[in-house]
Amino acid sequence: MKKHGMMLPGILAGAILMMFMLQGCGKNAEQAYEPRLLLGFSQIGSESAWRIGNTRDIEEQADYYDVSLMLENANQKQENQIAAIRRFIAYKVDVIAFSPIVEDGWDNVLEEAREAGIPVILVDRDINADQKALTTCLIGADFYREGVMAAEYLIRKADSLHLDHVNIVEITGTQNSTPMQQRQAGFHDTIANDERMTILESIDGDFLKSRGAECMRSLLASYGDRIDAVFSHNDEMTLGALPEIEKAGYTPGSDILILSIDGGQEAIDVLKEGKINCVVECTPRLGRALMETALKLKNGEEVKSEIHPEERVFSDEDDPSQIAPRGY
Ligand code: AHR
Repeated sequence: MKKHGMMLPGILAGAILMMFMLQGCGKNAEQAYEPRLLLGFSQIGSESAWRIGNTRDIEEQADYYDVSLMLENANQKQENQIAAIRRFIAYKVDVIAFSPIVEDGWDNVLEEAREAGIPVILVDRDINADQKALTTCLIGADFYREGVMAAEYLIRKADSLHLDHVNIVEITGTQNSTPMQQRQAGFHDTIANDERMTILESIDGDFLKSRGAECMRSLLASYGDRIDAVFSHNDEMTLGALPEIEKAGYTPGSDILILSIDGGQEAIDVLKEGKINCVVECTPRLGRALMETALKLKNGEEVKSEIHPEERVFSDEDDPSQIAPRGY
């Protein structure tokens, strides 16, 4: 008997897990259920198509690798993630994995996991350097490189359009999260070498569609005609911003250049329509590396300290009709 993909509130998840373990014992104490690996995973929430695709991928890969997955959704709250990790420790899971919503504030709970002898894997996002020694491995994108790739596209586009200046507004992801900080750093460092580029304003969109729309309304009210390009840290905020640009009378993709990150199907469809110019891929498919790493840790094998997936750029420089279905 095995149990996969419990996306449940904490107490309910706990009760079901205990029932399921006791059931195994009750049938026949000698043949009690021994999962190949019991993995506790705390997901940030469901804020984007990317996040939903990431959760699905982890569930599918747990199935494929025959891993018993205890999955908890923190609904965008760090305190829920900390409580979930504490429950995983109490249940004595073999390995804990989590996607930290922000970088700081994990030291106490990670110290508790270390004292319990449970290895911890970071999935998708990183934590502060001074707490890193309490974890074993980071499996996630190179967010700095994503920011660099977006900026490099914009510089090439400015060249091809013979622009002598580019005024950029930036809609950022959740403050103090790794993708927000690293994407911004990669983008800013790269455009710093090009004097045509100016950031008019960076504004916090929290990776949410509704916030993307609000931010865009406020940016249009402040800068209107002066905006040449929007750099949005994820597809969700981009999809929120686009209707606001159209309502204000501008054509996204030509009057205002649009750069996004993630590469989900909806954004790729809009790229095909010409309303987005560039989407830097951030793959949510981290499940396979997670299962393989967790199994190695259970077997006491060495694991790499960082695993970054290969990522690419989709843009109007290529033929977008050739882009295969994205699956998220
Ligand atoms: O951490 C990855 C980011 O989080 C994705 O870019 C975004 O869509 C998600 O919410």
